[in-house]
Amino acid sequence: MTSAEVPAHVAIIMDGNGRWAESRGLPRSKGHEMGEKALFDVVEGALEKGIRYLSVYAFSTENWSRPEEEVDFLLGFNRKLLRQRRDDMNERGVRIRRIGRREPVPDEVLDEFTAAEEATANNTRMDLMVCFNYGGRAELEDAAARGSIPEHLYAPDLPDVDLLIRTSGEKRLSNFLLWQSAYAELYFTETLWPYFDRHALWAALEDYAARHRRFGSL
Ligand code: FPP
Repeated sequence: MTSAEVPAHVAIIMDGNGRWAESRGLPRSKGHEMGEKALFDVVEGALEKGIRYLSVYAFSTENWSRPEEEVDFLLGFNRKLLRQRRDDMNERGVRIRRIGRREPVPDEVLDEFTAAEEATANNTRMDLMVCFNYGGRAELEDAAARGSIPEHLYAPDLPDVDLLIRTSGEKRLSNFLLWQSAYAELYFTETLWPYFDRHALWAALEDYAARHRRFGSL
């Protein structure tokens, strides 16, 4: 892979944590915990390849409809993970950024995001976009209410998605980065998220590098 073939912006729908756990007779929360390892291995793998933007779907606007116990777990889990990984990400030159609606995310979770954003604000090696209480339609509604859509997206500087990965065999966008993914190459794998790692990311990058992107022209 030459550097020209490395996508600038990779977006990932980290799906299959619950099924991974259920297939082992474990609580779904164990699947999310395993998913954390997968995510940070993928961050390392993305850094190694020089990916500039990595967007991950950590919590969607639809996830509030899960059982209260799981919602509470995910809120606390994300908060803990931001606190534990912040310094590590900072050392690696990763800038953490949250995108999504604030309401109705509890203040203590938003504050943890702010702390991570502030600690890593000057890093330029990679932006890790944590899509939290994020929904593509909500983003477009919020932007349109304020004026021109591209100027009012949650992160107007975020380039279009080059490669969108979804794990666990589901083949849907599920309201993720709708505007930014207009011309994204889509990559679906049967692998459940807890089994995904940097090597699986690199396999997706190889697949991407072999494609011909035409953006509507010939
Ligand atoms: C989808 O699996 C995964 C999630 C809802 C959460 C994934 C979040 C992380 C790994 C942490 C990211 C956090 C930060 C702060 C970067 P699922 O529960 O939908 O699995 P299923 O489809 O098998 O039920």
